[in-house]
Amino acid sequence: MKKLLILGGTGDAHQLATATQQISGLTVISSLAGRTQQPVLPNSQVRVGGFGGEQGLIDYLRDHQIDLVIDATHPFARQISVNAAAAVAVLGLPFLVLERSAWLPKPHDHWLEVADHQSAAELLPSLGQRIFLTIGRQELGFYAHLQDLWFLMRSIDPPDLPIIPPGEMLLAKGPFDLKAELELLQKYQIQAIVSKNSGGQATYAKILAARELGLPVVMLQRPKTPAGERVDNIEQAIEWLHSQLTPQPHLFDFCSHQDA
Ligand SMILES: NC(=O)c1ccc[n+]([C@@H]2O[C@H](COP(=O)([O-])OP(=O)(O)OC[C@H]3O[C@@H](n4cnc5c(N)ncnc54)[C@H](OP(=O)(O)O)[C@@H]3O)[C@@H](O)[C@H]2O)c1
Repeated sequence: MKKLLILGGTGDAHQLATATQQISGLTVISSLAGRTQQPVLPNSQVRVGGFGGEQGLIDYLRDHQIDLVIDATHPFARQISVNAAAAVAVLGLPFLVLERSAWLPKPHDHWLEVADHQSAAELLPSLGQRIFLTIGRQELGFYAHLQDLWFLMRSIDPPDLPIIPPGEMLLAKGPFDLKAELELLQKYQIQAIVSKNSGGQATYAKILAARELGLPVVMLQRPKTPAGERVDNIEQAIEWLHSQLTPQPHLFDFCSHQDA
């Protein structure tokens, strides 16, 4: 029996956990940060909450005798990815990053790509007065000083910040479809969108809708993540797992076979 830890909090991590149930000889533990009030949980084992930094993660991996780790966290969850890469390096564990590809601008997209929220906030007054802020709830504070603008803010759970930007909160969980996104943008007379370049299909409809309506999208670029083996889809992650679980021929066996 081998033990796999999936660092999750994404749809991809959930799908991966489900897909690994077909693999015999593997016990799977999914780890969630515990941010979402009612997370969709996989059928297999789940643990919730931070580990306590890099050292806490090292201790957890050791104490629970984890053999393999897959980091399937969100592309914008940088700290846990840094900690994971460092912890597996210390313990010498096989490690894979599952990260969906970033969206790329297409003809008729009007993207303004920025490195961080401060840069996004600086751009907004020049783009319009009514903004659709689709960055989740944790970083809303970066826009709270923009008191002359009006924001439609969408997140899964309500924010727990002392101050949020002026406007309206919309609590909703994807996937979202194009028709509904078009209706939303028109109903609220949105003039610009702020989005993370999350990739994947679940939240891509707002980008399609912006293209169709000719709206600018302030697109937050992904933070840099540590180097390491990575794939962008579940099938390749499962292939990687199989390759890790298949006993490798011993060099000695190979040599003696060649000599025969
Ligand atoms: N950032 C986003 O835009 C976004 C969007 C959708 C989903 N998510 C998911 O939400 C979670 C939190 O995101 P974040 O941006 O706050 O991450 P982060 O900044 O990288 O992580 C902050 C701390 O939260 C804990 N943590 C994060 N992911 C964890 C996991 N899967 N299991 C156990 N502990 C975890 C770790 O605490 P310790 O140091 O104590 O171990 C980590 O140092 C992630 O799991 C991510 O996949 C994030």
